[in-house]
Amino acid sequence: MELYHGNIVYSKSDTELAVHKDSWIAVDDDVVEGIYPVIPEKFAGIPVVDHGDDLIIPAFTDLHVHAPQYPQRGLAMDTLLYEWLNKYTFPLEEKYADPEFAHAVYDAFVDDLVEHGTLHAVIFGTIHTEATGYLIEKLETLGLRAYVGKVNMDTDSPEKLCENTQESLLETEEFINRYLDNRTARVILTPRFAPTCSWELLTGLGKLAEKYNMGVQTHLVESLWEAQESVKRYPDCGSDTGIYEKAGLLGHGPFIGAHFIYPAEDDIRVMKKYGGFAVQCPEATTNVIAGIMSTAALADRGIRLGLGSDIAGGHNLAIYTQISKAVQFSKIKTFYEPEVNRPITFEKAFYMGTKESGALFGKTGSLEPGYAFDALVIHGMSDPYQKLTPSQEAERFCYFGETKHIRARYLGGRKIG
Ligand code: GUN
Ligand code: FE
Repeated sequence: MELYHGNIVYSKSDTELAVHKDSWIAVDDDVVEGIYPVIPEKFAGIPVVDHGDDLIIPAFTDLHVHAPQYPQRGLAMDTLLYEWLNKYTFPLEEKYADPEFAHAVYDAFVDDLVEHGTLHAVIFGTIHTEATGYLIEKLETLGLRAYVGKVNMDTDSPEKLCENTQESLLETEEFINRYLDNRTARVILTPRFAPTCSWELLTGLGKLAEKYNMGVQTHLVESLWEAQESVKRYPDCGSDTGIYEKAGLLGHGPFIGAHFIYPAEDDIRVMKKYGGFAVQCPEATTNVIAGIMSTAALADRGIRLGLGSDIAGGHNLAIYTQISKAVQFSKIKTFYEPEVNRPITFEKAFYMGTKESGALFGKTGSLEPGYAFDALVIHGMSDPYQKLTPSQEAERFCYFGETKHIRARYLGGRKIG
């Protein structure tokens, strides 16, 4: 048992933040036991960590990030998806055939993820099993909660990334088997997106999903080009999202669809039916995708939502920044399409980046009793000339906070970073 003191803020729901000013959070066996305004007598003699006036908030969850694209963040940002993929991103991903290159980048990527307070993530690797294996092993060693995918792509891809279908399936099954016993960093099936996946590949992955109870991550209706291309390729599937349903990939584990900007009614039907997460990646969608998710409208339809950095379509690993951008972009979207959109609140966006998406990893993303103590200590958000509430400080952190403001990071009660 340990006690941590500070101003504690977390999401109760998508409309309400819980605020415990000047309080003590008791952590028992990595899990929050309770929050107290004064130290209860029963805890006399328990070790205490005093974070003074600093904020204690839940660690963030990144539901969509490409580890191999880390070296490319902030580059070629004046292109759009098709050109960005073919001219810049695919050539970079080819380099992960070289384990030495992969290890150096993945070491830096994981360090920076932790630096930004992202302690849970759903991650794309590349087609390369050795390199992606290094990434998942590193995350597992650190105890970070993650889903990691070896990418599958076997059509309409550059030669060095275009897999042989049977080899792709065999390597994926081997990859699954190698990490079946992992505790925190687990495998997820990762067909890149419909335009680069054959039907044989998708249905083969569907069989693996069923055999191993595996979830799936992919890109869904992310641009008008991608949405049209997918439906043209698989016209019998009803929608881009329907492709994964028909291939037998859904219903066996988590389902994560990045972007979800141009959903047809059938995309929404499938997403709801399987409890999938639609991931808004605000910076990526303004960089290379050029579209904005209808966040409030999707929430109204009962779609589960989360936030992603989508490095390196996005340029910034900070999920706290994606939280503020989600609020900003919901207003821009409403300005242009007032009939079907409305702004979201800070409470909703914070919930998306913590409790809503954290649910993918069990009880994470909140600091209520029973949740893992995966938490960040935030310093430096107060003013000398006005008194801010802890929730105002949390909001401010999401607008102009930086890694230097994260004073400490706890993963299941253990200090890391
Ligand atoms: N669609 C297919 N591949 C990618 C990728 O690497 N990034 C993004 N943002 N979209 C994709
Ligand atoms: Fe992506």
